[in-house]
Amino acid sequence: MILTRSITELRENEHSWRRAGESIGFVPTMGNLHTGHMALIMQARAECNRVVSSIFVNPSQFGESEDLSNYPRSPKEDEALLEPHCDLLFLPQVETIYPGGVCLTNINIPGYTSELCGANRPGHFVGVLTVVNLLFNLTQPDRAYFGLKDYQQYRLIQRMAADLHCPVEIIGVDTGRDDDGLALSSRNQYLSREERAKAPLLYQTLVRTVEKLDELDEATLLASHRQVCAQASEQLTRAGFRVDYFTLRDSDTLQPPTPTSVSCRLLAAAWLGKARLIDNISLKESK
Ligand code: PAJ
Repeated sequence: MILTRSITELRENEHSWRRAGESIGFVPTMGNLHTGHMALIMQARAECNRVVSSIFVNPSQFGESEDLSNYPRSPKEDEALLEPHCDLLFLPQVETIYPGGVCLTNINIPGYTSELCGANRPGHFVGVLTVVNLLFNLTQPDRAYFGLKDYQQYRLIQRMAADLHCPVEIIGVDTGRDDDGLALSSRNQYLSREERAKAPLLYQTLVRTVEKLDELDEATLLASHRQVCAQASEQLTRAGFRVDYFTLRDSDTLQPPTPTSVSCRLLAAAWLGKARLIDNISLKESK
């Protein structure tokens, strides 16, 4: 595996692979890798001739009160995990990505970036979209892999790539979970032992709620999903979660479902102690 902090070296390799007619799969990350991340890498490995990953804790997607300085970092362990599966690991410094410390250009999808997680984390998705587009420009992948755990992020990146005609296929990979159902996340390590024991309730509540919603005919679903979600949210609150949202959305528009919605997704975000947990499942997935 080639390890580089340099854009020039990244581009040289990328150009030589492209000249040889090889396809490039790209997996951008912020490091502290777990088996959820590795599922993206393995899918890229299976589908592309070359696999490029990046580790960059992107300051512009963290709010002022968020955990940028404490974000878990484990560079040596990450390198060891990636070594057998990646052709190149790009480890840029902040000054390399944002010379002079700033990037004046921002990518926004008004209405979409301020919904759901965007409502609680202003500016977050503008930071994500801008850095992902920048990394696409540097890496020029044929395919890029994103986790469905961060469903809104995945959808927004798909939308950006379509709107801007980015020559890359965006591929969503299923959520990696612990045995008890908790979605794997670098931020799970903020949970105390007691909180960790309670955390799978978020996924269990999503599954139970989807089972309820799946039993409803379309008209009843459209009329009552808010009430069903409010009840689920109250259950989580009683169990000690601080719920940001628990809501059914159209999978494409991320807006509340309408009679024309083709598929729906149940999405939730909730704080447990210092950890903000997010998770989602599609309607009918639990059957
Ligand atoms: P990060 O949180 O490190 O996640 C990198 C990729 O791994 C994302 O596509 C995310 O959805 C995926 N991922 C994380 N946990 C997962 C799980 N349990 N199952 C499946 N996939 C999982 O997401 C980011 O970094 C950043 O916002 C980034 C896209 C790199 C831009 O800075």
